[in-house]
This record gives sequence, structure tokens and C-alpha cells, in this order.
Amino acid sequence: MTVWITGASSGLGLYAARALRDAGHQVIAGARSFSAGQAEGIDRLPLDVTSEESIDAFCRAALVISPGVDALVQCAGVLVLGSCEETSLEEYRRVMDTNFFGMVRMNQHVLPLMRKAGGGKIVLFSSINGLLGVPFQSAYTAAKHAMEGYAECLAMECRSFGIQVCLVEPGDHRGGSRVYRTHAAAMGEQSPYRDGFLSATSRIDRDEQGGSDPVRLGRKVARVLKRRRIPFRLRVASPDQHLAVFLHDGPPCLHFKVLRDYYLGGRGKD
Ligand SMILES: NC(=O)c1ccc[n+]([C@@H]2O[C@H](COP(=O)([O-])OP(=O)(O)OC[C@H]3O[C@@H](n4cnc5c(N)ncnc54)[C@H](OP(=O)(O)O)[C@@H]3O)[C@@H](O)[C@H]2O)c1
Repeated sequence: MTVWITGASSGLGLYAARALRDAGHQVIAGARSFSAGQAEGIDRLPLDVTSEESIDAFCRAALVISPGVDALVQCAGVLVLGSCEETSLEEYRRVMDTNFFGMVRMNQHVLPLMRKAGGGKIVLFSSINGLLGVPFQSAYTAAKHAMEGYAECLAMECRSFGIQVCLVEPGDHRGGSRVYRTHAAAMGEQSPYRDGFLSATSRIDRDEQGGSDPVRLGRKVARVLKRRRIPFRLRVASPDQHLAVFLHDGPPCLHFKVLRDYYLGGRGKD
């Protein structure tokens, strides 16, 4: 199988690319920091999912390497941490442009190829944040929720063309780079949300550093792609995070209390 993968220079995208290579697939990986060439048995091409021209050039170059795409795995993502009040619209746009519109742009280039070929598999890296909100991650959470709704539409529309869709919903995993976890510019000393922000971001850092094994997640993605029928959802999270998703579907007062206590410490109390 020929698999294209975005956001493959770091974190879960990199681990998934390696696992897909190990599973015997031809992997064509894209990221902004890549220049064209081969490394670790993976073909690399420059790709910026926020640019139509860059996606176009990536697709043309990938089709020269291998004349088709059987699967597309989309991992490109960035995070801006900040309060809803102080995260600027420009910061919201930056997150949406990569995590949501970038994913849509990429699909719009690949869907015609898959349709003409009679099928394909599209794997979208969402998150547990695609299912529930977490304090100070509103931009990221909004983008992942948008992806979740979009993916349901995509799966239904494309089924008759033999195109299958899978949402990967990871909880915290190790290996992601801090470069892609920026703080909103307004979250300095003067922010009225400062104490809660520091509490939540240190909790988020700790959870990622002690998170699940990215190698195992990469292998799970590779195993799923081998199946004739792929599941619509692949949730890979700790028992706590599964519980948080379960509580989310219950009464909101309970869910909010648990998450506020967890992320905001004493500030979570009414
Ligand atoms: N790590 C976790 O715990 C976790 C949990 C849930 C979901 N996820 C999701 O998994 C994916 C990977 O996250 P991560 O934290 O593991 O990795 P990461 O270290 O944050 O890597 C992000 C990747 O996205 C690429 N990227 C950023 N902007 C891009 C753009 N405009 N065009 C193309 N590529 C771009 C980066 O490469 P360049 O800078 O070279 O372009 C890099 O390869 C994301 O979608 C994230 O939301 C991760």
C-alpha cells in the first residue's frame, strides 16, 4: 500500500510513519521542515497544509514517487494554550488553519484520486479533546471537535466510493514536541487567569510526559490500516481519559466539576 502521512517530522506522526514503514507500506511523509529525499526508508517531501500551493506540489511529487495513494494519514497539528477571553482571533485562526482547514485542504486533493481509483482509507488524528473540552485548550478543542463532525459527514458521503474514514482519538502520549505547544501571547503575569493557567498547563505537561507509548499507537494505526474494513473510531487513551469521556455524556455539573478540580486544583471549587 502507498500511504501519505502529514505532520510526520515529530511526535505521533513520526511514530506512525515508522510503524507503517515497518508494516511494509511505501510511506510518503510530509512536513514543513522536510526537504525532498529519503530517510529511514521513508520518502520525505516538504508540505505545509496551510498552503494550497504546497499541498499541490506535495501531491504532484508524491505521485511521481508512486502513482496512487491508498491511504492518507493526517497528523499535522499545533496547539495554542490560552484563556477563551485572551486568546486572540489570530491565534484561533492559526490553530484552525492547520488542524482543521489544513486537514480539509489535504482531503480535497486526495479524495478525487481515491474516488477515481475506486477506494482508499483516510485516517484523521483527532484527540480526546475532540470529544470533550479542557480548560485553556479552547482553540485546539474547537478544531478537533470540528474535525469530529466533519469526519462523520465525510464517512457517510464517501462510503459508496469505497473510501473509508477513521478518527484516531489519542489521549496523552509521550514524544510530542514542545515547539508546537505555544502559549497565547496574552497569558503573561498580567492575565487574570494566570493562576488557573499555570495549574492547567503544568498538569497538561505532566500528563504528556507521563503519557502512553507513541510506538504502540503507531503500531495500532498500522494494524488498523491493514484491515479490509477499518473502524470509524480508534480511541487510544488511559482508563482515566476513557472515564472522562464517559462522564462527559452524563450530567454536565459532574463532568465540569471533575475536570475543573483536575486542571484548576483549588480553583475548581464553586
Ligand atoms: N501527543 C499527544 O499526546 C496527542 C494527543 C492527542 C492528539 N494528538 C494529535 O496527534 C498529532 C501529532 O501530535 P504530536 O503532539 O504527537 O506531534 P508534534 O510533536 O506536536 O508534531 C506536530 C507535527 O505537525 C507538523 N505540522 C505543524 N504545522 C504544520 C503545517 N502547517 N503543515 C504540515 N505539517 C505541520 C509538524 O512538522 P513541521 O513543523 O516540520 O511542519 C510536526 O511534524 C496532532 O494532530 C495532535 O493533535 C497528539
